[in-house]
Amino acid sequence: MLAEHKLKAFQDFVTRSSHEELIWMNGFIAGLVSADPVSAGITGKAEATATRVDKISIVFGTETGNSKKVATEFAGKAKKSGIKVKLSSLDQYRLSDLPKEEYLLLVISTQGDGEPPATAKKFYDHIHQESLTLDKTRFSVLALGDSSYPMFCKAGEDVDNQLHKLGAKRIVPIQKCDAEFAEDAAEWFEAVMKALSENNSNTATPVAAKKPKGKKNYTGIIRTNLNLNDRGSNKQTHHIEIAVEEEIQYEPGDAIGIIPHNRKELVDSIITVTGADPDATVEFRNEQYSIAEALTRKINIVHLPERIVKEYATVVQQEIPDTRIDLLDLLRIYPVKGPAQFEQVIATVLEPIVPRLYSISSSPEAHAGELHITVARDRFSVNQETKYGLCSDFLSGLETETTIDFYIHKNSSFKLPGGDKDIIMIGPGTGIAPFRSFIAERDATGAGGRNWLFFGEQCFVTDFLYQTEIQNWADTGVLTNVHLAFSRDQESKIYVQHRILEHGAELWQWLNEGAYIYLCGAKAPMSTDVEKVLVQIAEHHGGKSASEALSFIENLKDEGRYLLDVY
Ligand SMILES: Cc1cc2nc3c(=O)[nH]c(=O)nc-3n(C[C@H](O)[C@H](O)[C@H](O)COP(=O)(O)OP(=O)(O)OC[C@H]3O[C@@H](n4cnc5c(N)ncnc54)[C@H](O)[C@@H]3O)c2cc1C
Ligand SMILES: Cc1cc2nc3c(=O)[nH]c(=O)nc-3n(C[C@H](O)[C@H](O)[C@H](O)COP(=O)(O)O)c2cc1C
Repeated sequence: MLAEHKLKAFQDFVTRSSHEELIWMNGFIAGLVSADPVSAGITGKAEATATRVDKISIVFGTETGNSKKVATEFAGKAKKSGIKVKLSSLDQYRLSDLPKEEYLLLVISTQGDGEPPATAKKFYDHIHQESLTLDKTRFSVLALGDSSYPMFCKAGEDVDNQLHKLGAKRIVPIQKCDAEFAEDAAEWFEAVMKALSENNSNTATPVAAKKPKGKKNYTGIIRTNLNLNDRGSNKQTHHIEIAVEEEIQYEPGDAIGIIPHNRKELVDSIITVTGADPDATVEFRNEQYSIAEALTRKINIVHLPERIVKEYATVVQQEIPDTRIDLLDLLRIYPVKGPAQFEQVIATVLEPIVPRLYSISSSPEAHAGELHITVARDRFSVNQETKYGLCSDFLSGLETETTIDFYIHKNSSFKLPGGDKDIIMIGPGTGIAPFRSFIAERDATGAGGRNWLFFGEQCFVTDFLYQTEIQNWADTGVLTNVHLAFSRDQESKIYVQHRILEHGAELWQWLNEGAYIYLCGAKAPMSTDVEKVLVQIAEHHGGKSASEALSFIENLKDEGRYLLDVY
């Protein structure tokens, strides 16, 4: 292969090189060969392709479909470049395959308070509990998250650390992504592909982890804040219209994220109890604020998680039982020693207020320059005292003409199909919100597909949200079918699932003709009750056995024809 004098010089050079130098040269030559088709031709095809990765696995763990969307896009790109791809959701991933993986790309979001999505739980627990060896595996993690949460991209970080601990080698470092993830995700994938094409050994030059690009925040003005429930209702549901000058990029099905402010009376009481100077400057998460401002707009002071209570106990050196508690109660029962210690608590213990999401109930086509949301004021009682949820209370009380900051949360898995497709929307309570957007959008764009709405609430007279609009859409034929369930208008409770069952034959026919089903609203018990009824319909009207009916519904989900947005 080499002329004798070259071979001798080569052997001489190699024997005088260190192990590290040999590894570097190996990578360097592989790079030269794969980048240079002429020399690849000279050295022979087998050698040129020896370093090429021809098969990868891409797995995703998702709640609202964003991780699935990017993973699917990457799978498509990799396939186009000639690489075989095994794409799977982590809930369907065969755990016994893990030690055999050579190249594994993971796209995973973080949910709850730093937890993995439900669909990734089994995988997450498996890698944390089992004594696995993954020394054959090279991997990289794309972590989707939202920097407004204290545990930013925690699930992705955990997976990255744990796989590394089990012996797997990183192809490129973990990339964390904020609410606007598309650009960071694309760059991460490019870096992975580059690393894989440059060098198949474990010696690729490490790439520094990149800081995630921030997210776009908008400021709007409240134009309308209207309680949609009539006098006498048990509910308070606000239709809020926000005017925005900037053009906003969103699609029906997306939500907005809002960081609420704390109530003034609560902030004032905390300042009184601690003796803090409201105007004194304090540092919180690397920014300077006055204490009053930090307590109003930045710091979570309600329903503190147990871990915060534990850390507080350490700072104030008092025994405090494991519990969730509001900051004011904590300060009253286990006081700080003075304003200086309170500032220490702010700087080292307390966490930011986390955002809350609200489905957008307006349509970009029908409501240009505005964004609407539909907010149920969350009321609950603690020790017989009536309390309200932080954000829904804040939003319900917003005066018109005040400003509000928000960002767009993309919900990639809850999107309208093509205009010619039929859709069945099941949205009791605030579940109506994205469907108001869907229907308005299809009306404004003249979509030809049929639209069927199931809506439910407590009483027809007081709780028929968006009654006039829904009736107009029914009158003008935009809504082909509307079925309503008012649970408290008769002795026995009637919910949307009862209406769905009553119309099972027609629903089955729509499904057979290709209709898409959408379900939005309360996760429990509504979404499980509705799903049971859909299974029953597949049994009774589709002649399926119980297990066939279940897999029929699962198939609809897999095909993207049964879509959920439940919370
Ligand atoms: C994708 C998505 C879309 C959504 N769309 C909508 C929508 O269109 N409309 C809508 O109204 N909601 C929607 N939600 C729900 C919304 O995001 C909020 O979860 C809801 O408004 C409650 O938030 P809150 O701040 O008012 O209540 P929080 O303050 O977060 O309280 C929530 C619950 O925590 C408990 N809790 C809170 N404080 C205490 C305390 N001091 N002591 C004991 N328990 C306490 C209570 O059980 C309370 O009900 C959506 C959620 C998601 C994930
Ligand atoms: C209820 C809820 C809790 C969340 N908790 C976190 C969190 O603790 N840390 C974080 O980085 N992101 C958190 N997020 C943001 C999501 O990870 C982010 O929206 C991501 O794009 C969702 O991707 P997915 O659609 O693939 O699940 C949370 C989102 C929601 C709706």
